[in-house]
Amino acid sequence: MKSLFVLLLAISCNYKIEKNNLPQLENSGDMAETVSFQQVKTEVFSQKCLACHGNAGGVNLESHASAHEHLDSIRRTALQSKSMPKAPVEGLNHRQYEVLSAWIDAGGPKDPIGHDEHDEETPAPSPEETSAEFLKIRKKILTAKCLSCHTAGEHAGHIPLDTRSDLLSSPLKLVVPGNPDTSLIYTITAPGARNMMPPMGVKPLSKAQREMIRAWIIKGAP
Ligand code: HEC
Ligand code: HEC
Repeated sequence: MKSLFVLLLAISCNYKIEKNNLPQLENSGDMAETVSFQQVKTEVFSQKCLACHGNAGGVNLESHASAHEHLDSIRRTALQSKSMPKAPVEGLNHRQYEVLSAWIDAGGPKDPIGHDEHDEETPAPSPEETSAEFLKIRKKILTAKCLSCHTAGEHAGHIPLDTRSDLLSSPLKLVVPGNPDTSLIYTITAPGARNMMPPMGVKPLSKAQREMIRAWIIKGAP
């Protein structure tokens, strides 16, 4: 009699656990501690959403701040009703669903929630993403000509150009290692380019500065 009771207890506990776990995918709990906006943007938004939800108006998923405003409706449309993404874009795959739900479960953080706040005030590139070559580009060109606008908190802060990984992981293809002519950071600084950067009022890059970017990209953007 006693053992039957224990058995029933065990069954009902198991049932509860399973039921609680149902709506979540296996790893999303662990992933919630490491997922960042950049990861969601690279793995999900840029592949499944940005074609329709860029910064042209409406629901903007380009930047952390604007995507964060829409957390609830992203959950409702992309995870629950699955009405997003819309055709012709194919639905989220398993991995994308997992990454997006981990991020939303974590409250839509910009950086991983285990991340040290202190790092945000001093956005020095971390060792593995920096190099003498990149630091030279940053110092001689980006700091002088771009970062007054393209850094967190400034008005073009949603396109950050601070770190090597900002340049290499951007869906805008800012830097395509080996290929300056498809790297936006190179083409957009050409005299007469569409939306030429830096914008009017700031002195354009010199030939030597553009040559330096070009050489760095050809070398593989180390
Ligand atoms: C092919 C175009 C297209 C794609 C791709 C797309 N959307 Fe949308 N989305 C729309 C349109 C159009 C609307 C506004 C009309 C509507 O709600 O049906 C919309 C509306 C939304 C809304 C607001 C809905 C509400 O009820 O508040 C959210 C949130 C959203 N989309 C999220 C996403 C996410 C997340 C993805 C990628 C996983 C995505 N969309 C992919 C076209 C698209
Ligand atoms: C005076 C402010 C300012 C400076 C300086 C500046 N930008 Fe921009 N940049 C902007 C603004 C504003 C936008 C438009 C943002 C948007 O589309 O919402 C922009 C957009 C861009 C884009 C995206 C364009 C696109 O077509 O999507 C790139 C790439 C860019 N800038 C690169 C640079 C580079 C490289 C430099 C330095 C050589 C630079 N910017 C200097 C203000 C600036």
